[in-house]
Amino acid sequence: MEKKKWKTAISWHFDKEAYVRGYKLKDLIGNLTFSQAIYLVLTGNLPDERKTKMMDAILITMIEHSIAPPSVIAARAVISGGNPIHVGVGAGVLAFGKVHGGALEDAMKLLQENIDKKPEEVVEKFFNEKKRIPGYGHRYYKEGDPRTQKLFSIAKNLGFYGKYCDFALKIEKEIEKKKGKKLILNVDGAVAAVASELGFDWKIGEGLWIVGRIPGLVAHTYEEYTLEKPFSKRLDEEKEAEYIGVPPRELEL
Ligand SMILES: CC(C)(COP(=O)(O)OP(=O)(O)OC[C@H]1O[C@@H](n2cnc3c(N)ncnc32)[C@H](O)[C@@H]1OP(=O)(O)O)[C@@H](O)C(=O)NCCC(=O)NCCS
Repeated sequence: MEKKKWKTAISWHFDKEAYVRGYKLKDLIGNLTFSQAIYLVLTGNLPDERKTKMMDAILITMIEHSIAPPSVIAARAVISGGNPIHVGVGAGVLAFGKVHGGALEDAMKLLQENIDKKPEEVVEKFFNEKKRIPGYGHRYYKEGDPRTQKLFSIAKNLGFYGKYCDFALKIEKEIEKKKGKKLILNVDGAVAAVASELGFDWKIGEGLWIVGRIPGLVAHTYEEYTLEKPFSKRLDEEKEAEYIGVPPRELEL
């Protein structure tokens, strides 16, 4: 058989009919919830009822969280410059990084690669290397991230609170012991633990985050587009910034 240049297991046409992960696309429409379809397209399998509820909880946890995150600021600024929604959403996605969104993937990696180690060993290594531990700490939540608490209680009810959730909380305790200060398990860390319980590979972590947060970014870009004037004044003001450059001077050539 002729060797093809590409391979895919995601979707295909058979007799001009579109199939996704082996199922007719038209059969999925009206029969699956959006979360079930997302799980199917990402993993290749249909989720059972427990997985569906856990998947719903994960995606809703990530959907939106205020106007302050870098992705929202970037997305709204780009719309404000006179661009359409897809450009604003794209800019928001590009603002995801190590401390915003990307922490989910890094936290999944940390949990999955170190699950057989002692939590103190893992924390020690990050501290010795002066690296931040992904999934811990939060700008506002200093005593506990309410999203983490809710997600873990759902995971317990559905039978998904397992070794990764337990390990994530042990690391939180160990950080407090070593640093003498609480750095709470944040939403990225909590989603990382539950997604690992569901069997997601850490390499899809950033993708999971993007899937979860895109609706929030679309809402923000649409709001900026319809509610604010272009070249938004708040982006044009020097009020909130401090000038630390050289004082005005003459150009002498
Ligand atoms: C989210 C984050 C940016 C919040 O930062 P913050 O509350 O402003 O915390 P600060 O930057 O003021 O840091 C406070 C102290 O805790 C330390 N710290 C904060 N988060 C840390 C982490 N994840 N691992 C190790 N140390 C951390 C800082 O180094 C600092 O130490 P110092 O007082 O000895 O200098 C930060 O905790 C972080 O980078 N976390 C890791 C990435 C992550 O999980 N992001 C997802 C956020 S939902």
